[in-house]
Amino acid sequence: MMITVTVPATSANMGPGFDSIGIALNLYNRFSMEECDCIDISATGGERIPNDETNLVYQCAKRVYDICGKPMPGLRLIEDCSIPQTRGLGSSSACTVAGLLGANALLGGPLHQENIIDLAAAIEGHPDNSTPAILGGFCTALLEYGKVWSVRVPIADKVDFVAFIPNFELSTEKARGALPKTIPHHDAVFNLSRAALLTGSLVTGDLHNLRVAVGDCLHQPYRFGLIPNGEEVVRSAKGLGALGAFLSGAGPTIITMVDKEDKTYYSRACMYFADRFPDWTPVLLACDEVGATVTQTE
Ligand code: HSE
Repeated sequence: MMITVTVPATSANMGPGFDSIGIALNLYNRFSMEECDCIDISATGGERIPNDETNLVYQCAKRVYDICGKPMPGLRLIEDCSIPQTRGLGSSSACTVAGLLGANALLGGPLHQENIIDLAAAIEGHPDNSTPAILGGFCTALLEYGKVWSVRVPIADKVDFVAFIPNFELSTEKARGALPKTIPHHDAVFNLSRAALLTGSLVTGDLHNLRVAVGDCLHQPYRFGLIPNGEEVVRSAKGLGALGAFLSGAGPTIITMVDKEDKTYYSRACMYFADRFPDWTPVLLACDEVGATVTQTE
């Protein structure tokens, strides 16, 4: 039996929603897997990926077999990846979710979606990546004592997302290391008020609030120092007419929200960036409403 799991990209830390608000985007990794008597891992595009027990998809699949008390025979895994790695677009979350869902399907579905959501967040550490990767859509999520508390919030269909993806990587670990241990009380209030305003405004479609609602002082100011031209890219992307811009996950990708009525933002951005920031590629995206899918072939 061959299982194929398709998982969307995700943008965590949306605006003020550090570690708590994320969205699934219509860029996908596809993983085909079946049991076999060895470990046989490859990538369709020939990318260099770990092809032994250290492969994240394999490790997550094994975790499910272990939890279910089943010996894992071996795994044939083919990865077909469109989500760029180490760019803040949830590629490792996609691998985690694929391993868990794929193994669960190979075992006949012993775990419920709720278990998978909890496990994915515990392994990944960022429920605002792993939860929308599974559920799709715009999600608020937190992890408490191993359990995810989350809600998939229906947002107005008024916004497109343009990701500005640089040609360099930034590891989450390094970006995490730039954060302070404590923050002033007024910074907490700054983010709290904007997180509520962002969520509410995306639900109602009150787009005029977004310029203020995407503000953040919990992580972005500390991380821009690790992202060459990051602040200039934010300024330019906003100057071209975006409703708001923020670091996707731990960066370095920057995402803008754009009014769907603004049909030429993307082409304006492509022209401007090709000239001024050729190391950054604009990619037009939309919210993925479906989340991870699992299909089975005999
Ligand atoms: N919330 C995580 C961080 C996102 O900012 O470190 C990782 O994608």
